[in-house]
Amino acid sequence: MHRIIVEGGSKLTGEIKVSGAKNSAVALIPASILCKGKSIIYNVPEISDIDYLTKIMKLLNCDLKFENDSLIIDTTNIKYNEIPENLSVMMRASYYYMGAMLARFGKAEISFPGGCTIGARPIDIHIKGFESLGAKVEIIRNKYIITADKLIGTKIYLDFASVGATINIMLAALGAEGTTIIENAAREPEIVNVASFLINMGADIKGAGTSTIEIVGKPCLENGVVEVFPDRIEAGTFIIMGALLGDNLKVKGVISEHLESLLSKLSEIGIEYVQSSDAITISKCDNIGSCYIKTLVYPGFPTDLQQPMVTLLTQANGKSVIEETIYENRFKNTLYLNEMGAKTNIIDEHNLEVFGPTKLVGKNVVATDLRGGASLLVAALISEGRSVIDDADYILRGYGNIVNKLKSIGAKIEIENV
Ligand code: EPU
Repeated sequence: MHRIIVEGGSKLTGEIKVSGAKNSAVALIPASILCKGKSIIYNVPEISDIDYLTKIMKLLNCDLKFENDSLIIDTTNIKYNEIPENLSVMMRASYYYMGAMLARFGKAEISFPGGCTIGARPIDIHIKGFESLGAKVEIIRNKYIITADKLIGTKIYLDFASVGATINIMLAALGAEGTTIIENAAREPEIVNVASFLINMGADIKGAGTSTIEIVGKPCLENGVVEVFPDRIEAGTFIIMGALLGDNLKVKGVISEHLESLLSKLSEIGIEYVQSSDAITISKCDNIGSCYIKTLVYPGFPTDLQQPMVTLLTQANGKSVIEETIYENRFKNTLYLNEMGAKTNIIDEHNLEVFGPTKLVGKNVVATDLRGGASLLVAALISEGRSVIDDADYILRGYGNIVNKLKSIGAKIEIENV
């Protein structure tokens, strides 16, 4: 268990580099089992979810080697294995082994996936997709048992444009005979990242990044090479920190098209920034306007930036309103923000009001989930005095090397193993 300690109020200046995207990397590693032989994934973030995924790869008898931030995976001696609960519950993304193993072995046995408790988060759309391809899915004592004598390509309409379901069905469809068409597919950049890895290995996939994806079945892929896209949520979190504390803070490794919804919202509320080819430079804004934010699937405002954004809005003039449409339990962080001096009000599970500006003071708080933890970290950085964030492991799940990175731009921050 880790605890992060922050002495608030320091200016943030210099350059901070964005790591590879968690939500791409956690899909790319399971996807690599579709490659016969070696694949290389560049720009892998240093986050705890990756440690658990590599443990699962070893359980499947794959060889793994890290060279700096590149991960070399060799599946030459891969063997089928069940994925046990102690690994699957450690993260949400363990569900990608369902689609990948179904394509590679025609079966998958995996205990329920874990992940932050930010809502009900069912995986019914994934399951319906596998069943449409011809798989049989049984649930026996907290375990999914998915089997298929033969998978057959078909048309699958997703009831909700879920990132996880889109990627999972895309992986499974590679093991199917014929063509699969996913309609109402999610359009997040992470899907494009995974599809480009599979295409580089010889897969025939068209339309990733749009709401219709066409996949031609071909389970034997080779020579996988991919670079993980920069993490748009980590980038957005640093940009938010820059708007509150920056002194020409340069956030480097940003694909600004992935952050249009955040950047346009910042412009709307009077926050200026300078955009260059792969960086955003930003300084503290002393006159932030209030706003309305509705979280949506990509390219809408990302739910994963909602919580850090709420902290920013505690410093805005007037009342802001947040409508969280993706999850039912993503305001837990606001209880701690209020203890630090914020004035937020949960109207119901999807709606929140934030009244600003409010002075925040350092407190002992607890990270409630990954992005909730990030929201408290931003709050601790702008608070007067010392804050202690317990259960900081949530933060480490998505923000690689965060303490050293923030130290390097001037934050007074330490981490303890407790
Ligand atoms: N949903 C269903 N059925 C499904 C799948 C999803 O109803 O089968 C609904 C959920 O109930 C929820 C919404 O769709 O309302 C999103 O669901 P979920 O959390 O399952 O989304 P995901 O696609 O698995 C990914 C990211 C999340 C991110 C969302 C939305 C990964 C591993 N996770 O989840 O990341 O919030 O997309 O963009 O890629 C995070 O990084 O903090 C995080 C939670």
